[in-house]
Amino acid sequence: MHNKTNSTTADDGLIRFPGCSKSFQPLGVGTWAWGDRSTWGMGGYDSTLTESTIAEAWTASIEAGVTLFDTAEVYGGGESERIIGRLLASNTDSSDDLVIATKFFPSPLKLNVNRSLRDAALGSLERLGVETIDLYQLHGPISLRSHAALAEALARVHEEGLVSAVGVSNYSIRETRSIHSELEKRGLLLASNQIEFSPLRRAPEKSGLLAECVRLGVVPLAYSPLGQGRLTGKYSASNPPPGNRDFSAFPMEQVDPLVSVLADVGRHAEVMRTPSQVALRWIIAKGAVPIPGAKNAGQAEQNSGALGWDLTPEQISRIDAMALNGRRTLRNRVWQHG
Ligand SMILES: NC(=O)c1ccc[n+]([C@@H]2O[C@H](COP(=O)([O-])OP(=O)(O)OC[C@H]3O[C@@H](n4cnc5c(N)ncnc54)[C@H](OP(=O)(O)O)[C@@H]3O)[C@@H](O)[C@H]2O)c1
Repeated sequence: MHNKTNSTTADDGLIRFPGCSKSFQPLGVGTWAWGDRSTWGMGGYDSTLTESTIAEAWTASIEAGVTLFDTAEVYGGGESERIIGRLLASNTDSSDDLVIATKFFPSPLKLNVNRSLRDAALGSLERLGVETIDLYQLHGPISLRSHAALAEALARVHEEGLVSAVGVSNYSIRETRSIHSELEKRGLLLASNQIEFSPLRRAPEKSGLLAECVRLGVVPLAYSPLGQGRLTGKYSASNPPPGNRDFSAFPMEQVDPLVSVLADVGRHAEVMRTPSQVALRWIIAKGAVPIPGAKNAGQAEQNSGALGWDLTPEQISRIDAMALNGRRTLRNRVWQHG
C-alpha cells in the first residue's frame, strides 16, 4: 500500500477508532451510491456506474492508501454491504488492513433495541462476510429509546465481539455528550460522530460540535463532503447535478461562486489541485475526516489527492469567507441534529 499523492508539507497523522486496532489516513470512501437506485441512479440515470467501476474505485482507493470505507444496512437495501462483501472476498491480501464502518438504522418502530440492533449487526456481518464490524454507528438520532438503552444495545454487541468500535451519526453536541457518557458507564468510548460537513455546510464548526468531538476524543466523520458532487466543478447553474441529491441542495447559482474560489485556490497551490481536492483538504484542516463517495477509479484517485499537502491559513480564510452554513430544512430538525 502506498500514497500516490505528491506529498508536500502535510504530516497527515493516522487515525484509530478507540476499540479498533487498525489505523487509517484522515480520508475515507463513502459507498452509499454502490448499489443504490433512488439517489445515485445505479441501473437508472447513471448507466456508467457498474460493479466493475465500483471495483476499480475500491482498488484505486486502497492503492492510494485510503482504507476506511463507510456503508450502512439501508444503502441500496443492503446491496452496498453485499458489494463490499464481494470485494473483500476477492481481495483477501489487503482485507485485513481495511476499516469497514457500517450503520444500524434506529427506526422509532424498533422499540426492542437490544434485539433489533443485534439482528441488524448480524445481518451486516453476513452481507459483509466479516467476523467483526470495525465501526458500528447509529445512523441518526431518530430512536424513541433513551441514550442509556441505545448505549446498552451497543455495549452488548461489543461485548459479544460483533463490533470493535461504536459511533453515532447526526448527533448534536448535547446528544454526543449524553451517549458518550452512557457508553463510558459501560466501559466503552464513543469513537465517532458522522455529520454533514463541507464548505456548503459549516454549521458543525460554527456550533462548536467539531471542537466538542475533539475534546471528547470522538472522530468527526464528514459526510457529503463534496456537497453530493456540487463542489467538484463539474456541475453549475447551467448543468445541475442529476438525480435526487437532497443534502446541501442549494441552487447551483449560490454554489458557483464558492466553486470558483475552490478552483482558484487549487490553481495557485504548490501542485495544481482540483476543487474536490481543495474542498476535502479544507475539511481535513478543520479536524474532520471526509468520506467522499466515489463511483469510479478516476474519482477515487482524485479524491485521494486531498492527502499529503496543506492549505495555507490565507487559503483557508478565503474558503471560510465563501462557505455556506447549511440549509435549514425539516430534515435538520428530524435527522441532522449535528
Ligand atoms: N450518515 C448520514 O446520514 C449520511 C448521509 C449522506 C451520506 N453519508 C455517507 O457519506 C458518503 C459521502 O456522501 P455523499 O455520497 O452523499 O456525497 P459526496 O461524497 O459529497 O458526493 C459524492 C458524489 O460526487 C461525485 N464525485 C465524487 N468524487 C468526484 C470527483 N473527484 N470528481 C467528480 N465527481 C465526483 C459522484 O457522483 P456523480 O459522479 O454522480 O456526480 C459521487 O457519487 C456517502 O457515500 C455515505 O457513506 C452519510
